[in-house]
Amino acid sequence: MEKVTIKDKTFAVSISAEELNDAVQKVADRLNEDVRDKNPLFLCILNGAFMFASDLLKKVNTPCEISFVKLASYEGTSTTENVKTLVGLSDNLKGRTVIVVEDIVDTGITMEHIIAMLEEAEVAEIKIATLFFKPESFRRSYKVDYIGMSIPNDFIVGYGLDYDGFGRNLPQIYSLVTE
Ligand code: IMP
Ligand code: MG
Repeated sequence: MEKVTIKDKTFAVSISAEELNDAVQKVADRLNEDVRDKNPLFLCILNGAFMFASDLLKKVNTPCEISFVKLASYEGTSTTENVKTLVGLSDNLKGRTVIVVEDIVDTGITMEHIIAMLEEAEVAEIKIATLFFKPESFRRSYKVDYIGMSIPNDFIVGYGLDYDGFGRNLPQIYSLVTE
């Protein structure tokens, strides 16, 4: 199996580019049904969601706006409770339908932070679209509306996701190999 080494860790391919494309298409198909004519704004969460957002939004065929916020919570291979807003909301989102585009919902802390930010901005409706979801790790009560793939509780890199800043450019997903 194809492997990559990033810093001190070894990762092996676990999800192919083709499987990723199918998962992205599935999310796009549902969004195209649900948000048609709602003038939605897609809010992409940097850095991790950049590749998913790019591929997803090419498949979205309803008129929409696209914006970005930048948050950080992970250090190395584990999440911290402390979510930092590095670049916040710049648009007036009052009354809008906002679709949050995230790479992965793990414990759910980051998304909770985003939901609070959007509620404060008085949006009309919040929908959550994530490429990956870790059900065994999720500890929150809000609904995750669109999930590309549910995955085991392993640490992954590639397709936007990083280990200490590296691996985001890999076109497929690699899982941490535990020795
Ligand atoms: P949460 O706040 O625990 O849900 O974590 C969400 C954030 O942690 C995501 O936006 C990712 O940036 C990062 N993250 C969670 N799991 C992984 C992983 O397996 N690999 C890389 N980053 C991850
Ligand atoms: Mg992220």
